[in-house]
Amino acid sequence: MCKKIILEIFNLHKSFNGLHILKNISFDIHKGEVLVILGPSGSGKSTILRCINGFENIESGTIKFNGEVITTSKTKWELVRQKIGMVFQNYDLFPHMNVFENISLGPILVQKKNKSEVLENSRKLLERVGLLNRGDFFPHQLSGGQKQRVAIARALIMEPEILLFDEVTASLDPEMSREVLELIFELAEKGTTMIIVTHEMPFAKAINDRVLFLDDGEILENNSNFFNNPETEKAKRFLDIFEFKSHKNEKSD
Ligand SMILES: Nc1ncnc2c1ncn2[C@@H]1O[C@H](COP(=O)(O)OP(=O)(O)OP(=O)(O)O)[C@@H](O)[C@H]1O
Ligand SMILES: [Mg+2]
Repeated sequence: MCKKIILEIFNLHKSFNGLHILKNISFDIHKGEVLVILGPSGSGKSTILRCINGFENIESGTIKFNGEVITTSKTKWELVRQKIGMVFQNYDLFPHMNVFENISLGPILVQKKNKSEVLENSRKLLERVGLLNRGDFFPHQLSGGQKQRVAIARALIMEPEILLFDEVTASLDPEMSREVLELIFELAEKGTTMIIVTHEMPFAKAINDRVLFLDDGEILENNSNFFNNPETEKAKRFLDIFEFKSHKNEKSD
């Protein structure tokens, strides 16, 4: 059976201050698929996610969501972002609001949903991310991993059709990373469509259905068997570096 394509990107180009950063990026993602974007620092991974969510203007190219072009001057990005959720590296929670308020704000203010229904949904989501007893806490009273799980709950409550994750564990220690990565695994098991940018190689290897390997703003590989069978020399070298690192860590333990 052919799965439905949710997102399609055609010939995307983006420059910053005359520097060509994204070069002819084209790919798509199917419903229920987990696409992992890998590549060296500065290769353009975050910029791709930010273009998909309208945080960056694109220069040329087209992005379609459920068959509709969203890269038009009339696009209402606040509506698109309800369906394409994004979680960033640095949580981005409102510091003056408690956890419940942070999660409920979008559905109440933007989606105009019934308040008691939203609070019930927030409760369920907090339970799902293991933080039901932290609803009254403010962000500064939470650990990094807890904040990140709140940020994921906040994205989920909008019932997005696809979630974009940009290095959500980059500022967490290993134990807190594990909590967040396990949550993302659960989402994958439930069939959530996701695009994940990460430097956590074992996680990327375990969760991906397909890998986009980016180098200097270009897609070098779009590969569903990337870890076992990288096709380009650059990707092989990229993977070698990570294997060397983990080997070194094992030795020094
Ligand atoms: N707002 C901006 N203004 C100017 N240049 C930018 C801007 N945002 C990104 N860039 C440049 O675009 C390139 C790609 O950046 P991007 O953040 O997408 O890389 P990345 O692959 O996510 O890297 P990392 O793994 O370090 O997060 C970099 O050279 C960066 O300096
Ligand atoms: Mg980045």
